[in-house]
Amino acid sequence: MIFSSNYNILLILSSVLLLSVSGTSSVSILDNFFPCLSVYSQHSVPFSAFCTQKNTSFSSVLQSSAQNLRYLKPSVTKPEFIFTPLDESQVQASVICSKELGIHLRVRSGGHDYEGLSYASEIETPFIIVDLAKLRSITVSIDDNSAWVQAGATTGELYYRIAEKSKIHGFPAGLCSSLGIGGHITGGAYGTMMRKYGLGADNVIDARIIDVTGRVLDRASMGEDLFWAIRGGGGASFGIILSWKIRLVPVPETVTVFTVSRTLEQNGTKLLHKWQQVADKIDENLFIRVIIQVTGTGKQKTITTSYNALFLGSVQRLLQITQDSFPELGLTRKDCIETSWIKSVLYIAGYPTNTPPEILLQGKSLFKNYFKAKSDFVKEPIPETALEGLWERLMEEDSPLMILNPYGGMMSKISESEIAFPHRKGTLFMIQYLTLWQDINEDETKHMEWIRRLYNYMGPYVSMFPRGAYVNYRDLDLGMTKKNETSFIKAIGWGSRYFKDNFERLVTVKTRVDPDNFFRHEQSIPPLPIESEPEYCVA
Ligand SMILES: Cc1cc2nc3c(=O)[nH]c(=O)nc-3n(C[C@H](O)[C@H](O)[C@H](O)COP(=O)(O)OP(=O)(O)OC[C@H]3O[C@@H](n4cnc5c(N)ncnc54)[C@H](O)[C@@H]3O)c2cc1C
Ligand SMILES: *[C@@H]1O[C@H](CO)[C@@H](O)[C@H](O)[C@H]1NC(C)=O
Ligand SMILES: *[C@@H]1O[C@H](CO)[C@@H](O)[C@H](O)[C@H]1NC(C)=O
Ligand SMILES: *[C@@H]1O[C@H](CO)[C@@H](O)[C@H](O)[C@H]1NC(C)=O
Repeated sequence: MIFSSNYNILLILSSVLLLSVSGTSSVSILDNFFPCLSVYSQHSVPFSAFCTQKNTSFSSVLQSSAQNLRYLKPSVTKPEFIFTPLDESQVQASVICSKELGIHLRVRSGGHDYEGLSYASEIETPFIIVDLAKLRSITVSIDDNSAWVQAGATTGELYYRIAEKSKIHGFPAGLCSSLGIGGHITGGAYGTMMRKYGLGADNVIDARIIDVTGRVLDRASMGEDLFWAIRGGGGASFGIILSWKIRLVPVPETVTVFTVSRTLEQNGTKLLHKWQQVADKIDENLFIRVIIQVTGTGKQKTITTSYNALFLGSVQRLLQITQDSFPELGLTRKDCIETSWIKSVLYIAGYPTNTPPEILLQGKSLFKNYFKAKSDFVKEPIPETALEGLWERLMEEDSPLMILNPYGGMMSKISESEIAFPHRKGTLFMIQYLTLWQDINEDETKHMEWIRRLYNYMGPYVSMFPRGAYVNYRDLDLGMTKKNETSFIKAIGWGSRYFKDNFERLVTVKTRVDPDNFFRHEQSIPPLPIESEPEYCVA
């Protein structure tokens, strides 16, 4: 950090510059922020790093990585401005200045937050966005099986950079290629190799984080408690992650992928019932998820269950395994594609066949929707009769989607308290429920109510006490911490659902590293209220 002796001159110059650009009140926050930033960051901050509501590019910059269109609607409060730092010192400076000036800050890496918390706020106005989109360098070192990845890089870019250096290394994180590494790993980060290697967060070996005082800390200087909390404790509660150091994992040169679909008429319910009994126990090189959709219209309308899989090995070996452990699937050689690990990434992410891997470097999302989602963890197979009831409910909705992700393997071997992410042994699979729509004029309430009813219906068949949820599938229906409430109890609802018994330790870490709750949002980890002096002491 450079402390400029020319603070006053800078302040005056930049104020003049700003006021001449647009002299309204919406500028006032930036009016104070810009000169402060210039003082605290290493290099001069160009004006083009700021995008205010007055800039013509404001909506395109705001929308750039925002994934849930619900939080871009005109009725949703917009940030005063978006600051896109060009180097780490500018991120540091933005923390120092936001704190000094009392400005609420939201940090965005890949913009995939389900409730838009990185670019919208229901409880804090005004606020600004610090967008890490320009901090996306990736340094892969095959020699020691590791990589440093800056927060703004996407999963797709990371996978590409690994594959560029080696055909036999990979990383076990998200299936979607546009996720920001910054936010993604904070919540856990699961993908097709989770049964073999665990989560992305299980494979983090170091991190660089900016704390509330603006210091950059690494694993050694942050201490094991904070390092524990940022691996699974959710984004934006403890500081700003600048980069993660990850451990690469071995992948075979040839892997196999397949997708096999069955409708209800093709005994889809029976097959799904069987899948529930084998998916977490089958060879840990095999990850078979199930994508459930409503297909067809009129009399043809049905439920289609698609078994979408990655096997870390050859077709021949895969067929032996499915014949032994899951013959009901009826998998044949012609259903399978042998390919490289990086091409399996494209296949699973849903790119058309023969899309070149270079597309991953664009860091772009394949599709954007208005959506609402929820999650569950399942510990006992859901009975067939309950599945029948589920199908009826799915049939009522326009564009519902369910994705079932198998657990077991490495996920069962890691203890619940190893890192902050707690959903481990005893989980058969995770469910994600979604409802999606494309039209801004849709009746949002109708869809929200539908998914809430579905969630109630599923209650008896999923984990209980607490009913678990995945923090990376953020769901504000589970409760919010209000701005001026230090109420710890209020947070418990979602706290124990996302983090089980780890919630208490997360609160302890939070209380130590950010007692004044600078890093906060609708579901951030709350610090314990500062104890007021007991009456009898006040003599
Ligand atoms: C289409 C889609 C597919 C998905 N697929 C998967 C999947 O396969 N596996 C899986 O595990 N999850 C998946 N997710 C969920 C995803 O992991 C989370 O949404 C994750 O939080 C996204 O991180 P981000 O950086 O892209 O999002 P952002 O919206 O930028 O951030 C998410 C949260 O983290 C905070 N944050 C962002 N950057 C930082 C930082 N540098 N330091 C501290 N806090 C930060 C934000 O403020 C926000 O609260 C998917 C989501 C979508 C929309
Ligand atoms: C926003 O507008 C200002 C003033 O015209 C300009 O200097 C700046 O570069 C613009 N920012 C972006 C991101 O376009
Ligand atoms: C469905 O199951 C029934 C009874 O087990 C069987 O007779 C029928 O052939 C199956 N149908 C399909 C399409 O597999
Ligand atoms: C919180 O804020 C609301 C609205 O600003 C106010 O009515 C309420 O009294 C505040 N509560 C506390 C505990 O300060």
